[in-house]
Amino acid sequence: MKIGLIGTGSMGSLLLDAFIYFGAIQPQQLYISNRSKEKLLLLSERHEGLNISQNNIETVTHCDILFVCVKPLQFTTIIEEIKDHVRSDQLLVSITSPVQLHHLENNLSCKIAKIIPSVTHKVGSGASLVMYGSRIQEKEKQLLHDLLSFISKPIEIKETQARINSDFTSCGPAFMSFFLIKWIEAAVEMTGISREEITCLASEMMLGTGTLLTQGGLTPLQLQELVAVPGGITAQALSQLNQSLDGVFHNLITTTHNKYVEDVEKLNELLGDIN
Ligand SMILES: NC(=O)c1ccc[n+]([C@@H]2O[C@H](COP(=O)([O-])OP(=O)(O)OC[C@H]3O[C@@H](n4cnc5c(N)ncnc54)[C@H](OP(=O)(O)O)[C@@H]3O)[C@@H](O)[C@H]2O)c1
Repeated sequence: MKIGLIGTGSMGSLLLDAFIYFGAIQPQQLYISNRSKEKLLLLSERHEGLNISQNNIETVTHCDILFVCVKPLQFTTIIEEIKDHVRSDQLLVSITSPVQLHHLENNLSCKIAKIIPSVTHKVGSGASLVMYGSRIQEKEKQLLHDLLSFISKPIEIKETQARINSDFTSCGPAFMSFFLIKWIEAAVEMTGISREEITCLASEMMLGTGTLLTQGGLTPLQLQELVAVPGGITAQALSQLNQSLDGVFHNLITTTHNKYVEDVEKLNELLGDIN
């Protein structure tokens, strides 16, 4: 099986590194292209045997599965470039949430799927969200699922819920890090503890918390109740946190969804609406 990858920016190169590192594919199976050439050279230095294409059409021509890892509005250029070169037996996988399956099916004759990966796949962890277009058969579902299983836990979702799901899986690591940065900042400022020391402890705590939630059989509420005994310090701090964070997550979800709708509307104009 040959795999193509268009766009070797942050997420494209992370997926490529992870697929190779976790043994999903060999560099020789990969054909990659990117608008600027420097990123391709860096990747070919990292992975001997990687095939660097001269352009996106060459990538498309060689592959069975094509991952397109560019930003939403960059899709229009790529679709224009590759539309006469894709084959009906090929599977194109977009990693961009606002680009809808119907945008791609409207404009390309191949099979279409969409995934929302996460930075956590760098360490073979986290959920990857998967959505399938109307032309996909069981065979391609299995293929994509098997490939993603090397680096993540693939979960099929409805496209209508892509935004809220990716708020957690894809944006989540940034939101959780933001929370930690603020907390660490306050700890350093108020107690003089060393940033390195407290960052190390905070990171271990995040890992342990994640493991308790994924493998320890606890829900977030059960975990919270286990630590915050009534009348204790944690319970008092949680009561304060509860007041401070009132409305924060509703605002967060409103923000991500408004930006998403804005992007989808722009793409509807460029790539055609559902009808
Ligand atoms: N970062 C995340 O955690 C994450 C998670 C899930 C999904 N995503 C999605 O992944 C997509 C890409 O994000 P990113 O962070 O990887 O962006 P990025 O770092 O800007 O990467 C985009 C890459 O696409 C290349 N490109 C642009 N137009 C091209 C064209 N016509 N032909 C070939 N290559 C082209 C760019 O090349 P240049 O070198 O010339 O700029 C760049 O390397 C976004 O839609 C994002 O929402 C990201």
